Amino acid sequence: MQHEDRELSKKFGVPALPGWAVLPLRLFLGGSFIAAGLDKLGDPAFLDPTSRDYIGQQIARFAPGTPLEGFLLNFAVPNAGLFGVLVMGGELCIGVAVLLGLLTRFSAFMGLLLNLTFFLSATWDVRPFYFGADLPYTIGWLTLMLAGPGPFALDWLLKRWLAAQEEAHTGEPLPATGTALTRRAFVGMGAAGLAALALAATGIDWEILHARRAEAGKLVAAGPQPTPALPIAPPAPLAPLQPAPEATQPPIEQPPQEAAPTQVPTPEAPQANGRQLLAAPGTLPVGQALQFNLPTGEPAVLNHSDSGYSAFVAICTHQGCTVRPNGTGQLACPCHGARFDASSGDVLRGPARRPLSPVSIVVDPDGSVYLVS
Ligand code: FES
Repeated sequence: MQHEDRELSKKFGVPALPGWAVLPLRLFLGGSFIAAGLDKLGDPAFLDPTSRDYIGQQIARFAPGTPLEGFLLNFAVPNAGLFGVLVMGGELCIGVAVLLGLLTRFSAFMGLLLNLTFFLSATWDVRPFYFGADLPYTIGWLTLMLAGPGPFALDWLLKRWLAAQEEAHTGEPLPATGTALTRRAFVGMGAAGLAALALAATGIDWEILHARRAEAGKLVAAGPQPTPALPIAPPAPLAPLQPAPEATQPPIEQPPQEAAPTQVPTPEAPQANGRQLLAAPGTLPVGQALQFNLPTGEPAVLNHSDSGYSAFVAICTHQGCTVRPNGTGQLACPCHGARFDASSGDVLRGPARRPLSPVSIVVDPDGSVYLVS
């Protein structure tokens, strides 16, 4: 507890907050920023201009209509590589500094600026606002900036060293610091930092990283591609379809929360009269969905419901993650939890606000479903 806090506490009779109360916040914010920086560092698509997940593509998708639109489109997008490196490096540096308690107030201010920028751009469209993570992070940084590092921070070592330098120059005695950093405390702080790093580098964040790597491997290196456009340029091969079930077989019931069986296209897709066959008669029972790739390389999904067939570009209209059927008549986005109606493409749950882009299909009288080019 700092001296001024104790004085204020005594004056107003209010119990002062112990200094260590800020430690959980410091560890969480520092660990989260390190995890976010490592996530970007390990993502081959993040700085790859040919990828749909390129930082410039991401910014171009979410910038329109946000308060930072002008800055993002005029500065960040043309310099997306530099911008991406600054964001990634900034997250790592801020995270490490805050974990160690080094220049904590300044680092917290930089973290605040970064999350405030994200809030005014990437998560500006999130509704309701508390679904977006950046605003709570901004407030967390503000709290840390106001409170200071608490105990077990290199800032106290730095303060003592600066005071010793001052003493050496002036000959005046070394002033007492608010919190002495003992060797034991230093070891404890290091252990806590390492534990936070290990936590950040394993578990959920690596799961996300691996998923993104797998997805990035499937991206077509054909330059930046606008999300909603559907130019059906040279026909691309689609997947061989699974054998059709017997005509008498009843529709397969889908248990809630289980992913519906899907098929991923391969280069052996059947075609008929120049049209691309998506589903032969009876191969896609009611309640199931089929994932495939459009000729442009974009992921798409064909859904079969009671009301018939429908198909959509499987790119989330929030920030461009790939949506997938979740077995309950919905398409789910793994990034921020948006849900879309698999039959209409309408948004069922934010943060996405726009419906999915439809894909033109035609169903022949015999029940065959074709992609319309
Ligand atoms: Fe954010 Fe889909 S990308 S909800």
